Amino acid sequence: MGKTAAQTGAYLHHIAIESENPENLAKFYSSAMDMKSTQLSDGCWTCVGARRKLVIFNGSNNKLSYAAFACQNKASMEALRSRVKLQGINILSSPSHYFHDDAFAISDPNGNLICFGVEEGSDAINANLHAPLQHLTFASLDVEMMVDFYVEKLGFSLSDRVLHENGDLATAFMTSNHEHHTIACFKADYNGIDHHSYEAGDWMYIRDWCDHFATQDIQLIWGPGRHGPGNNLFIFIEDLDRNWIEISAELEVVVDRPTLDWPQHPRTLNKWGRAIMRS
Ligand SMILES: [Fe+2]
Repeated sequence: MGKTAAQTGAYLHHIAIESENPENLAKFYSSAMDMKSTQLSDGCWTCVGARRKLVIFNGSNNKLSYAAFACQNKASMEALRSRVKLQGINILSSPSHYFHDDAFAISDPNGNLICFGVEEGSDAINANLHAPLQHLTFASLDVEMMVDFYVEKLGFSLSDRVLHENGDLATAFMTSNHEHHTIACFKADYNGIDHHSYEAGDWMYIRDWCDHFATQDIQLIWGPGRHGPGNNLFIFIEDLDRNWIEISAELEVVVDRPTLDWPQHPRTLNKWGRAIMRS
């Protein structure tokens, strides 16, 4: 019945967000996230760095336009498309100009548009600051419904769950490849984006990012700390629209292990110090 998303090895390739002032936001990402910003069309800007891409459309602040996952090759993308069809999920056209024309999109239960495709051309940009785009985290009124969609229907692997004392699901970490999570979902009182994350890989690169942010008087809003699930080191800043941006390192590599359960507790969110509890 086609490959599961996890079998395609899909990785988060780029995301597109909306902003009431896309030009200003593009300038922010250009300087803060070491990306080159370009106006693509009226009301649309792209920001491109080394293995990190962001599209910004004129629209409402803090709204995801779409998230785009790159499959390893056309065969794996077609296998995933077959599975999606068999699951009875509507196949939509992909709005991404970074993918080949045969890319497709689907809408998740919260209306988030998710594209799957194969990268068009290669990214040869060099940068002083290393951190590829790596995961996107949603806020949702109904985490169980999101897990049912991404895990049961698309075939993401469920790496970890965070549970309230009564067993209710607070957070789910799901992956489409070997990385601990490429999508996560926090229980919240709204549907939308929680944050997006760039994986620096090594603690010393987080130091370099912090020094870089300091030169621009951008203060950390959370961290440094270490998450329980994923065991990754982290810092957070926020952009001009107050979207949360994470720089991560040492994210767990997951290979065929069972799903782990964690208690909804401050030490689960941050082993080192202050936790930002979502629900
Ligand atoms: Fe994260």
